[in-house]
Amino acid sequence: MQPLFQQVCIIGLGLIGASLAQAIKDNNLSRRLVAVDGYVPSIEAGIEQGLLDAGGSILSDVVSGSDLIVIAVPVQAVEAVFADIEAVMDSGQLAKDCIITDVCSTKGNIIAAAKAMFSTLPVGLVPAHPIAGAENSGYHARRAELFVNHSVIICELPTTSPAAINKLRQLWEAVGATVMAMEADHHDSILAHTSHLPHLLAFNLVEQLASHDDNLDMFRYAAGGFRDFTRIAASDPKMWHDIFFTNQSAIVSALDEYGIYLQTMRQLIIDKDSTALMGLLGRAQAARRHFGHMLASTPYTDISAMSASYIISPSTTVAGTIAIPGDKSISHRSIMLGSIAEGITHVTGFLEGEDALATLQAFRDMGVTIEGPDKGKLTIHGVGMNGLKPSKTPLYMGNSGTSMRLLSGILAAQAFDSVLTGDTSLNKRPMERVAAPLRQMGAVIQSTGTSGTSPLSITGRDNVGKSLQGIHYDMPVASAQIKSCLLLAGLWAEGTTTVTQPEVSRDHTERMLSAFGYEVKVDGNRISVEGGGKLTGGVIAVPADISSAAFFMVAAAISQDSELTLTQVGINPTRTGIIDILKLMNADITSSNETHVGGEPVADITIRSSNLVGIEIPESLVPLAIDEFPVLFIAASCAKGRTVLTGAKELRVKESDRIAVMAEGLQTLGVDCTVTDDGLIIEGKSIEGDGGDLNTSQINNRQPVFGGGHIVSHHDHRIAMSFAISSLRASKKITIEGIETVNTSFPGFAELANHIGMAIEIDAGTNEA
Ligand code: S3P
Repeated sequence: MQPLFQQVCIIGLGLIGASLAQAIKDNNLSRRLVAVDGYVPSIEAGIEQGLLDAGGSILSDVVSGSDLIVIAVPVQAVEAVFADIEAVMDSGQLAKDCIITDVCSTKGNIIAAAKAMFSTLPVGLVPAHPIAGAENSGYHARRAELFVNHSVIICELPTTSPAAINKLRQLWEAVGATVMAMEADHHDSILAHTSHLPHLLAFNLVEQLASHDDNLDMFRYAAGGFRDFTRIAASDPKMWHDIFFTNQSAIVSALDEYGIYLQTMRQLIIDKDSTALMGLLGRAQAARRHFGHMLASTPYTDISAMSASYIISPSTTVAGTIAIPGDKSISHRSIMLGSIAEGITHVTGFLEGEDALATLQAFRDMGVTIEGPDKGKLTIHGVGMNGLKPSKTPLYMGNSGTSMRLLSGILAAQAFDSVLTGDTSLNKRPMERVAAPLRQMGAVIQSTGTSGTSPLSITGRDNVGKSLQGIHYDMPVASAQIKSCLLLAGLWAEGTTTVTQPEVSRDHTERMLSAFGYEVKVDGNRISVEGGGKLTGGVIAVPADISSAAFFMVAAAISQDSELTLTQVGINPTRTGIIDILKLMNADITSSNETHVGGEPVADITIRSSNLVGIEIPESLVPLAIDEFPVLFIAASCAKGRTVLTGAKELRVKESDRIAVMAEGLQTLGVDCTVTDDGLIIEGKSIEGDGGDLNTSQINNRQPVFGGGHIVSHHDHRIAMSFAISSLRASKKITIEGIETVNTSFPGFAELANHIGMAIEIDAGTNEA
């Protein structure tokens, strides 16, 4: 590839300038590389080591013929450099469109300096800031990979040419950085909070401890916390001195805000306000973890950038007794109802998957103190029906449709305005299905785009001026999410809210409301609540998730010589469609130890290698197994004869279009299937004699059904896990791309699968967080 530039001139060979020079050299981004630095030994070292083609201490001696100048000197020296550049430009040694950029960590003052020094701003002038650095400084600390996975902020000026921006962007991307554009003022304010303030505090804390008479003891016993917190106080004092002055006003306002927060914390400690302090600490801890997700390219942000994969070798048998993680639907509801209840709610078995954690974070953002999760245990300090507070930022629902739809109902009834948003997948899913009936109740909700997706903006009742009104809503689809959304809104509505569902859908909301002491009337498929009541906190034991158990049920059924017992799985009759369908397919499945936990029935489920037969799936079972079809399609592929699914259009609007995506994957693995408008027809591939009339020795000598191949999960957790199960009847390796979303519902899936005999390796790809 042609180098991007003819000659790059770096002014200032400190850590950033020298690292960029090294990265340009290593990536062959310029034909020539020259540098200017008042400290001649750095220039000499650069030339001697072959990094630089030329260099010197006087700009006009070196810069001629450059098409990119990078100013990497301390902020306060930039003005003088601009003056030198203007002089060289005037003398014709530099092209008028030469790109001139800087790497300084404040931008407003750089722009002011440019305006002061240049009679006309050059078209190539693009202020920029790579957010990368280290506490070490100087030429010898340089690292070509310093910018990899770091952000570079470009602050284009009205005078900047698009060509200059484009080329600078290419340069930074070529050295591994992610480029973002931003207004200079915004940049300076953000940096004041996220970089300048922490540095200031680190310097200050070291100063505070060092000033104590017993400072030796202080430092001797100062353990990890002090060391971690003050690592950045080892940075260059001169540089920080300059930054504190050049970004003075933004830093002072960040510092003032910090003072207010510090004062609040001080008061909580003086007052021994345990709940509020726990709330603050818990919120901060969660926010810290959450932003880790948001910054890494994980499901929380750019799912299109995901690249982790499963690489799965064929295996034949699974065996053991295992515990499956907690139920996702019930975990969501435990947070929601626990938060709006009065008193404390203790939750055990909470699913620490990303979807339920998104709900948890949303309620923390609305001021609820929630302790945990710690090994599935949570303590929720309920704030009552009127205690939620507006979140300072949009509520981020990640990948979770349940969080967004159920929360819409709760938020439509609150006094304050809210905004709900999600990741790129969630922001494509239909939200008018809840927004439209909520509007009938008097809610004011704005969805996005022509297809009515999130972000959703919800106007608070204080601004609307009146309460929600109860309605009777005939649901067009059997969706527990729509039903739950309306029932939750109905808790605050005037009068009765009734929903009628066309088929039975999961009833966890109804059950949990009753468990919290809120009356719910159920009359067949008509469910009603009366507004104006209250909930009382209590104890919730979340059972194991039958939707997660489903993968292992199918694993045992299709493989040879297998027996698995899944302990204490939720067997709420509105969720057991998977068991009913597998039984219709002739699966050897039994339950034992049936009991109730927290209003939900549970049992141990045992399933053995089975002679599956294809069936026509009764449409009445579809809503009761709505999340299990991807893995049921794997079972159907291993059955004798044809399986036909109809009445399952809803599958097209889940985390992916599960009909299309499963068909694509099945065909890749050699299964014959036909997509229909509302379902799928699968030709089971069991060999002659397999199926219902298979004998024990045939079961124990099963033939592969699937070939090997590369599956694309379309960032859908259940697609990824379903195809992982197919490896139990595969002839070759299967790779599944885009497996990060598995963490939304089943953290630890691969480890558990390997524990019972499967062979899944994880390739973290390029986005390992
Ligand atoms: C859920 C309901 C179902 C299901 C989802 C969880 C819930 O969605 O697919 O995973 O917790 O209420 P629909 O109600 O839209 O079918």
